Amino acid sequence: MWRILRKIFRNLNFNRFSYLFTHKYVSLFSLIDNSSKIQRNTIINRGVKIISSSIDNYTYVAPNSVVSHALIGKFCSISSNVKIGMGIHPTDLISTSPIFYAKDNPLRERLTDPTKIQEHKQTIIGNDVWIGVDALIMDGIRIGNGAIIGAKALVVKDVPAYAIVGGIPAHIIRYRFDENTIKLLEETQWWSLPISTLKTKVELFNKESFTKEDLQTLLK
Ligand SMILES: CC(C)(COP(=O)(O)OP(=O)(O)OC[C@H]1O[C@@H](n2cnc3c(N)ncnc32)[C@H](O)[C@@H]1OP(=O)(O)O)[C@@H](O)C(=O)NCCC(=O)NCCS
Repeated sequence: MWRILRKIFRNLNFNRFSYLFTHKYVSLFSLIDNSSKIQRNTIINRGVKIISSSIDNYTYVAPNSVVSHALIGKFCSISSNVKIGMGIHPTDLISTSPIFYAKDNPLRERLTDPTKIQEHKQTIIGNDVWIGVDALIMDGIRIGNGAIIGAKALVVKDVPAYAIVGGIPAHIIRYRFDENTIKLLEETQWWSLPISTLKTKVELFNKESFTKEDLQTLLK
């Protein structure tokens, strides 16, 4: 009986109720662990799991995605069914089974004391990153500002700022802009401007061929 109750409580997470009052939208059918930090204007949809991660303002996570051990910047669009940082098992020990090294493992039993096996590496995702549906991003990857991860990509290497990557394993398809424009965009750090300032610049964000001068107005 006690075991069953413990199981039920382990799977309940009351955070989501408090988010109802403090955040713009966090689905009641999502799961955010106590060590994660979600900003007020971060949108978390149904079926999403956030574990030991931090997600900044104006980023949304679409249904059924999993974000684990990641730091995610502002204005990111994370599509549905995306998986980030799903964990590492040892590849050069006798066994890959977590029963030999992990304190909390799916087998609910541990044969030895926890070892120094690193089960997660922090994944770092910049600002204004768009991650397509069904993408899988391996532990410890760094994704630069403005990058695009194509649908169903398997990301095993770092992604430079403003690169578009896709495929299994993911490769660079192209860059969104030329080198100078990327440099300028990164200098503007527009994602750190207050939303009230961005509101006044919205026309610029809808301009198809913006100029160097346009970008410089973001620095003012
Ligand atoms: C990655 C993406 C942005 C590329 O857009 P694009 O730059 O306009 O690319 P194009 O369609 O012109 O294709 C360029 C090349 O990349 C390839 N490509 C496009 N998307 C790809 C993907 N997801 N994976 C692998 N290769 C891809 C194309 O086959 C093409 O290859 P080729 O030059 O050998 O013919 C887009 O295809 C994508 O995956 N978007 C995500 C869609 C999504 O998940 N939406 C959910 C809503 S949030």
